[in-house]
Amino acid sequence: MNVWRRLSGSRRALALAGAGALVAGGLVTLPVTVAHAATQCEVTYSTNDWPGGFTANITVRNLGDPVNGWTLGWTFPDSGQRVQQGWSAEFSQSGSQVTARSLSYNGNLGTGASTSIGFNGAWSGSNPKPTSFTLNGVTCNGGGPTTPPPTTPPPTTPPPGNKVDNPYAGVRGYVNPEWKAKADAEPGGSRVSNNPTAVWLDRIAAINGTPDSSSNGAFGVRDHLDEALRQGAGYIQFVIYNLPGRDCAALASNGELGPDELPRYKAEYIDPIAAIQADPKYANLRIINIIEIDSLPNLVTNTSGQPGGTAMCDTVKANGAYVNGVGYALAKLGAIGNVYNYIDAAHHGWIGWDSNFGPTADMLKSAAIASGSTVQNVHGFIVNTANYSALREPYVKITDSVNGQTVRQSKWIDWNQYVDELSFAQAFRQKLVSVGFDSGIGMLIDTSRNGWGGTARPTGPGATTSVDTYVNGGRIDRRIHAGNWCNQAGAGLGERPKAAPEAGIDAYVWVKPPGESDGSSKLIENDEGKGFDRMCDPTYGGNARNGNNPTGALPDAPISGAWFSAQFQELMRNAYPPL
Ligand code: BGC
Repeated sequence: MNVWRRLSGSRRALALAGAGALVAGGLVTLPVTVAHAATQCEVTYSTNDWPGGFTANITVRNLGDPVNGWTLGWTFPDSGQRVQQGWSAEFSQSGSQVTARSLSYNGNLGTGASTSIGFNGAWSGSNPKPTSFTLNGVTCNGGGPTTPPPTTPPPTTPPPGNKVDNPYAGVRGYVNPEWKAKADAEPGGSRVSNNPTAVWLDRIAAINGTPDSSSNGAFGVRDHLDEALRQGAGYIQFVIYNLPGRDCAALASNGELGPDELPRYKAEYIDPIAAIQADPKYANLRIINIIEIDSLPNLVTNTSGQPGGTAMCDTVKANGAYVNGVGYALAKLGAIGNVYNYIDAAHHGWIGWDSNFGPTADMLKSAAIASGSTVQNVHGFIVNTANYSALREPYVKITDSVNGQTVRQSKWIDWNQYVDELSFAQAFRQKLVSVGFDSGIGMLIDTSRNGWGGTARPTGPGATTSVDTYVNGGRIDRRIHAGNWCNQAGAGLGERPKAAPEAGIDAYVWVKPPGESDGSSKLIENDEGKGFDRMCDPTYGGNARNGNNPTGALPDAPISGAWFSAQFQELMRNAYPPL
């Protein structure tokens, strides 16, 4: 999977780091009756404070006529108080005045209905609570709290049907015990084995668990969910990965379903997963589904007539298997109140060129509205899944030039518009909103293997002899070519999973479990449908898709998904931030 392909030559700022010393900041409730307006409201504002920062939870109850779209306003009493990253509303601040606007899914508030929003903020001096709120311009209070605070704190998980803006915010992720056991069995592995990684549902048998020797362990979907409850986890991540004709442009992750098996995909794969995820027993877990890695971008860049185009990609484009399969998955799973869908959106080294950027956004939109789905079933997108593209290139900016020449014309960048995943993810988010996705969507970045630390990591920009010396000397992504994707030598673990690390980014996540192979370096017989892709063979000279360069793959790799100890050890050695 994750072949590179190309055609031609908010919201969030504050990571909750340092929030260890949470103190209860108390709570204030402001009920109100306004004589001359049909708008009446009650606002509950509670905070958890720590030195310099806080999290605020706000409940807005409409006591007046039903509203369709609302704006909540208040003034911070202290000039140092700032909203930094909010959820479930669009926040803006001017001076000390804050407005929070409803999103499409929580704008309708009937009489007596309430909704919860929140934000992470900063303060200096002191952090007093606002004393007055307005709803659609009408004041909610006559000045000060009039009811005692409730004795129980507001719930941290939403009721079903009321999705939070960022399901990663404020809660702990599920640690897959099967991955953890493999990591713990490695010398030094316990340094990272407590990180949440995604559970890949890469075949029908994975739904009930496949006690086999390769990628999947004995745990099925229910086992994972039960274990998540036992762990007290707030979210759990699954990868939905079993489309008909899967991995159409590569061989290493071909799947069990033929290109015409959409009915089986629906009935034997998506329906049973949806039935389990909808069990009310799991209603307080935020269930995150990563939808179908590489599939839709392949339809944009790897059909016939394009370099690297394949007959299988032609087939699944023509018969609608990918678009309708993804639409079906989104509709079925998105209908569940506590389930969050993030669609795979490739990476900068694949769709960062103008020729691919807009068409991929359009393709994602067409799948989001296929099979009866709507864009409301899409909570966001993920980039860099199982890939190695750097999160940030600290010493190469796309706007740099050397001796009057733009770095875009270097061999490495090759006219791409982006040089790293963070800039790409933020820009692609805007593009997706512009084609019709909700303005509240958030991006995920798979940082499991894009650390690029270790002794080969540059410590400053390259020599300004030419654009190539500058880019090659300064780039932290040390791959031979940005199109290389299989078991890359020199890679390290990247940023640890973290919620709301940057504006527009819901989380850094570890979707590809570090230590699991991308594909075998030679043909290995197996009963999973997986082929041998020579991009995983270190002796291969490459193809048109990687500019006929060596693959940079580690030797002696097992089939995709199987444990690859040597790679895990190298990822730990080259971790960045270092372990
Ligand atoms: C494989 C899956 C595996 C996943 C996670 C994919 O490349 O095809 O079988 O579960 O990687 O390691």
